[in-house]
Amino acid sequence: MAASPANLNTNAYLRNLMKETVVSGIRSTGRLHLGNFFGAMQNFVRMQHEYNCFFFIADYHSLTTHPVPSDLHENVKQVLVEYLACGLNPESATIYIQSDLPETAELYLLLNMNAYVGELERVTSFKEKIRKQPENINAGLLTYPTLMAADILIHRGTKVPVGKDQEQHLEMSRTFGNRFNRMYRCELFPEPVAFNFGTQLVKIPGLDGSGKMGKSEGENNAVFLSDTPEDIRRKVMRAVTDSGPVSPNQEKPEAIKNIFALMDAVSEKETLKFFEEKYNDMSIRYGDMKKQLAEDMIRFTGPIREKIGELSRDEATLHRIARRGAEKARESASSTLSEARHAIGIRHF
Ligand code: TYM
Repeated sequence: MAASPANLNTNAYLRNLMKETVVSGIRSTGRLHLGNFFGAMQNFVRMQHEYNCFFFIADYHSLTTHPVPSDLHENVKQVLVEYLACGLNPESATIYIQSDLPETAELYLLLNMNAYVGELERVTSFKEKIRKQPENINAGLLTYPTLMAADILIHRGTKVPVGKDQEQHLEMSRTFGNRFNRMYRCELFPEPVAFNFGTQLVKIPGLDGSGKMGKSEGENNAVFLSDTPEDIRRKVMRAVTDSGPVSPNQEKPEAIKNIFALMDAVSEKETLKFFEEKYNDMSIRYGDMKKQLAEDMIRFTGPIREKIGELSRDEATLHRIARRGAEKARESASSTLSEARHAIGIRHF
């Protein structure tokens, strides 16, 4: 067949159809930190050129903590700005706000009919919430995994770039999708899997000596992409360490492992190797290591911070990107939803 413009268009269309679909989102609960970057965003940016990507701002998910309306809007804007500042391109990926896609809410309702309270109560993140905020255990928290499943399945996503903490939620998305297919004897939903370009899912630790970097773990636990150099130096210099190794090649305690893990994420390989050797021969000075880590974080986040500043002032562009993203997302979502309704038997008159 001779190459004509029409054939070339058809080929581009078919290539796009054959691309795997990628879906992921970040909650609009504040500024993005290095955990969000290395667990999720870094993969978003790489995947946008190779896959059919949908990246959204999970504002419904953030309602479980009852933000006031003006904070909600500011936080949604902040995540959109940071998506773009990190290099997401609205020409390559579909970037949208979760609440602009009513199809997600309807699929969430349908999936909830086959999601059992017992299995939802056993989810680790739900049990953690019960411990942390006993005064606000709402149904939205319980059904958080069903909403996540709806986010992914509405585009029939198969690859989901997320950090290690989301593994269990992904397992539930597969359960809900497979259950729907079985119950309604269809093959509507493929199985989504958690994805990272490296071999394993990532967990970036915080600066307070234990656990992961998180938005709600206190201001000093997380380094944000928009932090100033002074903020970063102050937080890193305060990071928890100890009095140093007492024997050569000693196993590292958790707080020290965490500092090394952060260095592994932002610094050059030689820098990490240099401090590993110092640790192993017991000549390490944590003050020097933290100074170096802070400077490497500043070098890493600097260009992103600058772009965040520029983009925050450009409301017209943000508006245009959100509107176009919503349109594109709805095209993909509406066909899935009508097939789901049809499979269930919602086709009255
Ligand atoms: P959120 O906002 O809590 O986190 C957004 C992404 O950042 C990753 N992440 C981390 N990765 C490594 N180390 C850390 N310390 C760290 N902290 C956060 C999270 O794993 C996540 O990938 N429930 C999702 C939002 C969501 C979603 C979805 C994701 C809603 N619907 C559908 C994928 C598909 C969340 O945890 O957001």
